[in-house]
Amino acid sequence: MRSSQSLVAICSLLSLSGGTAASSDSEAVIENANHIFNVIHDSMRQWGSSLHHNGVSFFLANVPAGTQLYHGTSKSTPVNGTEWLAFEPEHAMVFARPHMGPRPRRPENGERPEDGDDNEKERGHHEELRRRQHHPPGDKPPGPPPHSPPGEPPHHPPGPPPPFETFSENEAGYLHTYAAAKDLRLLYIDGMSAAKTNKGTLDSQDILLFNNTLDDSPKEGQRGRMGEFERATKACEMAENEWAGGIDGVIRMEAGFEVILCAFERDLTPVRIIQVKSDERADGPRKGQMHDGHASPREDEDDGKRRGRPPKGPRRGPPGMGSARWMRAVTARYGGIGGDRVSLNYEHFVTAYAYDLDLFAENSSLPRLGQVPDAELDVVRKELTALILAHDASETSRNWQAITDMIVKRYSDELSYLASGDFADIKSLHDHIETLLSPFIDYSERDTTSEANRCATQFLPLETQDSHVLAARAVHGVAHRVCSTLLAAWTEEDLESAVQNVQALIDYLDWTSWKECRGCENHEICVVPIWPMGSVADYEKPTCREASRPYDEDGDSYWGGIHPCFLQFGSI
Ligand SMILES: *[C@@H]1O[C@H](CO)[C@@H](O)[C@H](O)[C@H]1NC(C)=O
Ligand SMILES: *[C@@H]1O[C@H](CO)[C@@H](O)[C@H](O)[C@H]1NC(C)=O
Ligand SMILES: *[C@@H]1O[C@H](CO)[C@@H](O)[C@H](O)[C@H]1NC(C)=O
Repeated sequence: MRSSQSLVAICSLLSLSGGTAASSDSEAVIENANHIFNVIHDSMRQWGSSLHHNGVSFFLANVPAGTQLYHGTSKSTPVNGTEWLAFEPEHAMVFARPHMGPRPRRPENGERPEDGDDNEKERGHHEELRRRQHHPPGDKPPGPPPHSPPGEPPHHPPGPPPPFETFSENEAGYLHTYAAAKDLRLLYIDGMSAAKTNKGTLDSQDILLFNNTLDDSPKEGQRGRMGEFERATKACEMAENEWAGGIDGVIRMEAGFEVILCAFERDLTPVRIIQVKSDERADGPRKGQMHDGHASPREDEDDGKRRGRPPKGPRRGPPGMGSARWMRAVTARYGGIGGDRVSLNYEHFVTAYAYDLDLFAENSSLPRLGQVPDAELDVVRKELTALILAHDASETSRNWQAITDMIVKRYSDELSYLASGDFADIKSLHDHIETLLSPFIDYSERDTTSEANRCATQFLPLETQDSHVLAARAVHGVAHRVCSTLLAAWTEEDLESAVQNVQALIDYLDWTSWKECRGCENHEICVVPIWPMGSVADYEKPTCREASRPYDEDGDSYWGGIHPCFLQFGSI
């Protein structure tokens, strides 16, 4: 008795939901629903963020107290001030190495990286010297790459290079382990936002977040060269001033996720500091080979410019076991950072996709912010500040990424199958679609509108089906597009047209699941370009490769020409 009553209750709820879903239909259709869906699906994932590497979105992120984070350096004392942290020790170990460059004069220990232009110039100078040092005599330093930012100065260091000995100062490298001393309130900048490229990975920081105020912005003729140092400083200044201390640092991604934390001494508990195996040269890139985030801006002064330079991209990773170790650690996070080490607020976030902006000028498949008028971006900037002042990542919010996962899992393979051309005739294609959609069909009363709505709301919690929350509207919009396209293909009489409709849907959705490798061996990893490595072919069709040598030397670099760091590596 009881059970049949509750069944009736559920059924009436279901029919109600059919009605409400229909009414919210128009609201569900929003611009860029596909992109916003992917922003949610890709977030904090190495895979999706590598393919959709130009982020235009910002999330409030929480890293719970006690989470262990890693820092690699030449110093054996705990960090005080602003520095970089990695989520994986293998990522930090790349930077746990002897200091390699001449140390510029600079204020002592404890300085936040806000020392000004002089040091910047000095670092730049040293970097030039060092770089020059590693070119074979008579070899011209590589000129600006084809996509070099306007005004990037040519690399002509003044005077003769210093003697080679200048370049090794001490022998040891250290891996620091810290634990978050409290819940860290971070701003997650999505995409491959720590990749120093000119392909758009830095747009959301340099153009949107920092409002073109980086000293090395194009008008200064220095764009991107020492950018990292400044980005960290600026982000922490904004955290303190514009965001009223509501943010402790930022999360970004390159070959691994990283945190720029503004006040190590305030927010971290040192766990241990250990000395790493000395001279791991064959085990990982030298300074600058893969630049990175959590290398210290102070210690990596000679890296600074290299980071900022548009990567001309070694197509392979650094040789040696360290590379395998590191790439395995990085690719283990393809599907997510894991362990609930980072949680995002998916109910309240800011994305440029939600505004009527021209993000895809010149037919680019990935968004760029450079051509958007400044006044239009100001709306987004203000929204971001409002978001940070009004919300935080620890407030209760629904995990919309988990909902996108259910949709992608249900339809990703099915859509490729339907578009594959494997169906002999339209009848067999229709039969397959019917099997897929049968849970949403009332065979006593066929009605494609209701069927599309039932199908589109399958994974939407009931109370979200009318929601005005951006995530809800984007997810509903995408699900509805999938369902209505399948219903339309079911009525299509021509096989070719039906397949084309599904293919057009696949193009629209642009799910990164379709580029995942299948069946890699235990000693292999699936390889996609991760700055500065990878080829155009790796981007088009990622494949399984030896984990110890994941990146091919052949093929056109995805990121552009030959990386000078790569030359340097070869010459040491
Ligand atoms: C960190 O540096 C600041 C500024 O130099 C100093 O006031 C503070 O005492 C230092 N804290 C620690 C824990 O060393
Ligand atoms: C960004 O910069 C422009 C011009 O430099 C200025 O008018 C605008 O107010 C700035 N926006 C924000 C949010 O600070
Ligand atoms: C850009 O798109 C337009 C309209 O779709 C097309 O006519 C044009 O050929 C495209 N240009 C390039 C460079 O692909």
